[in-house]
Amino acid sequence: MHDNPILLVDDDQDFCNLVRNYLQDDYSRLDICNDLETAKQFLNENKYDALLLDINLNGQNGGEILKYLRDVDTHLNRDLPSIIVSSHLTPEFIAKNRQKCADFLAKPFNNYDIIQALKRILNNFDDVDLDVNVDEVSQDPAVTEVLFEEVPCREPFDLPPNLKSVVVTVLDQLQHHPGLKKLFSSLNLKRSLDTYYDEHIGLLINIATGIAVQHQWSYGSFLEKLVYAAYLHDLYLIDKPHLAKISTKAQLEQQKSQLQFRDDRFVLEHPEFIASKLEKLSVIPADSITIIRQHHEMPDGTGFPLGLHFKRLHPMSVLFIVAHDLTDYIIDNPEWDLAKYCKTAGNKFTGAQFLKTLSALAQCK
Ligand SMILES: [Fe+2]
Ligand SMILES: [Fe+2]
Repeated sequence: MHDNPILLVDDDQDFCNLVRNYLQDDYSRLDICNDLETAKQFLNENKYDALLLDINLNGQNGGEILKYLRDVDTHLNRDLPSIIVSSHLTPEFIAKNRQKCADFLAKPFNNYDIIQALKRILNNFDDVDLDVNVDEVSQDPAVTEVLFEEVPCREPFDLPPNLKSVVVTVLDQLQHHPGLKKLFSSLNLKRSLDTYYDEHIGLLINIATGIAVQHQWSYGSFLEKLVYAAYLHDLYLIDKPHLAKISTKAQLEQQKSQLQFRDDRFVLEHPEFIASKLEKLSVIPADSITIIRQHHEMPDGTGFPLGLHFKRLHPMSVLFIVAHDLTDYIIDNPEWDLAKYCKTAGNKFTGAQFLKTLSALAQCK
């Protein structure tokens, strides 16, 4: 039970109003202030359940508030769980500040992002039953619309310890959110018997979260974004695994003669199709939608659908693109070797963010 209000400290009043809107149903008790001094005053006078803190307060360093709470032993709000919200989150910033707060949230975010982040820090997910019950949904692939299961993802890397609870949250949302249910049934997709999809998602969750940990992105919010993207990125091709396996324009060109009418359009349009549907629903994190939209882009601009250059790719998309590539490499080469893969991948994945991701991957165990 959480009885106290949440404190939001941010100098952008429009942003504060937006957050108030987002939280009005789930956390109606929200105090807002825009500068350091008022924030300290609020914290001295009231007990809070959580703090949402912008790090740049009109030139002042919001981090001072965290230090202030830590330094006063008897403070009413000592050990207050805090989420740093910022539009300038970098892996370096997170690595440097990871001990100082409970989570990080990149701006812009949607109502789902903020509510989930608060739920994560206010509730103990260890109590959640990890056996996801899918019995109530028919398992017959001929009649199932879209069935999400916990996919086995124990290999190849050690999993982040908090991944289990993240997967439970994601699956719960995918299976029970009315908007998503409606979307899945409107797509009228039939799940294929091919095991590619489960294997692909399972490996992808393992590899993406494995790299994220090496990237110092082991917070629940980051892992959750990757897990959502892994489950949903190829949703439009769930009944066409032979098309989901095509990951570059060159592969599409090679296979064109064996494809059916419109198959090439399914391949080229699947990232944007599903991303735009999910965007309208606003129930999964905004960054996951960006990852889905960009998962077939390539650093040199030869990817699809937009042919974006590496500088225009979201850092989490970069991580996902590399993880996605390694996933298919492992499926095609069961005797794979990480050092050998990193060497080949270094030739096609150029640009600073890709190199960082590859060096994080090389550290994975
Ligand atoms: Fe895809
Ligand atoms: Fe994929």
